[in-house]
Amino acid sequence: MKTLNNFDVSKKKVLLRVDYNVPFDNKGEIADDYRIKNSLPTIKHILKSCEQLIIMSHLGRPKGQVVEELRLDKVAVRLMKLLGKNVAKVNDCVDIVLPDEKIVLLENLRFRRGEKENDRMFAKKLASHGDVYVNDAFGTCHREHASMVGIPKYLPGCVGFLVEKEIKFLNFDNAQRPFVVIMGGSKLSTKFPVMNKLLPLVDKILLGGAMIFNFYKEQGLEIGNSLFEEEQMVTARLLLNNEKIVVPTDVVVADEIDEKAKFKTVTCEKIPKDWFGLDIGSESVDEFKKILKKAKTVFWNGPLGYFEIDEFAKSTFEIADFLSKIEAKTVIGGGDSVSAIRKLKLENKFTHISTGGGAALAYIKNKNLPAFEALEL
Ligand code: 3PG
Repeated sequence: MKTLNNFDVSKKKVLLRVDYNVPFDNKGEIADDYRIKNSLPTIKHILKSCEQLIIMSHLGRPKGQVVEELRLDKVAVRLMKLLGKNVAKVNDCVDIVLPDEKIVLLENLRFRRGEKENDRMFAKKLASHGDVYVNDAFGTCHREHASMVGIPKYLPGCVGFLVEKEIKFLNFDNAQRPFVVIMGGSKLSTKFPVMNKLLPLVDKILLGGAMIFNFYKEQGLEIGNSLFEEEQMVTARLLLNNEKIVVPTDVVVADEIDEKAKFKTVTCEKIPKDWFGLDIGSESVDEFKKILKKAKTVFWNGPLGYFEIDEFAKSTFEIADFLSKIEAKTVIGGGDSVSAIRKLKLENKFTHISTGGGAALAYIKNKNLPAFEALEL
């Protein structure tokens, strides 16, 4: 595998692709710099010997246009602070003369249509900034975009330390058993391919999030106004027949999706008509804990309830806290479960917290992500 440890960057202009697609709060400030922090080992290693480091990333989905709020200026400021070094931020990513500075950050790649369209000319122009290419943007490795798969056609390249770490921890082929997976989130359609892939490797898959209502509906139970995907009923039936699948037995229901809503915990047979199922209940949390206590490996993706509202975040927080105390290898993948863990300041208590949401799931489904194939890894 071509990694930074066996790739020469000395005296080279290094073009580094990172994933600085970070969340912003409603005041327009960076809400979480986990992805920036995780790029530092690669950056520091390159800076030890390179001639120049040119960093590039996307932010949001500006659809090939300049969107002022999606400029990378605030990201540049945070990077400078974390690195303790000057970063020269430029206002475009191609058709510019780069400043003669050691570290340069290009403007949001997705301001140019060529990025998403994987345009050859655009990739060639990006490639002309450097002598070699390093891809450390794990969160974007499932995208066939110019900076991910186009540039390697023009420059020799390798992956950075973050990508190397992610693929090591997200590989469950030889996971120590019992191996327990916790799958939350709202859409069974997006989670099913991953569950399907993991099923032969696991002992149990514990289900949470709005996708559980597909399973109740399939069992002929009342689900009130809870979310479900009509076209996923067959999938739910298929999984219900598998003894490795654990469906919660009780749920927290509310009369509306609001902080001030009336709420109560009921068994899954007693969901009132017109109410919303918004979290798994305490009986299910206890059952999950019993199973997790024996696990040697745990992979968790997606919150177990509607965790944006504290009242419905209880099971997610309780399981996060429980997992932080067990002896198993614990790997967390996916944006929202990571946010929950960071909110509880538990991030140092897990074996690995992935910087990838979609990319982590895509990698588990199929290890040959487009960006890796482009680098011929
Ligand atoms: C992510 O946040 O999952 C990555 O940065 C990829 O972003 P995208 O889903 O907009 O391609």
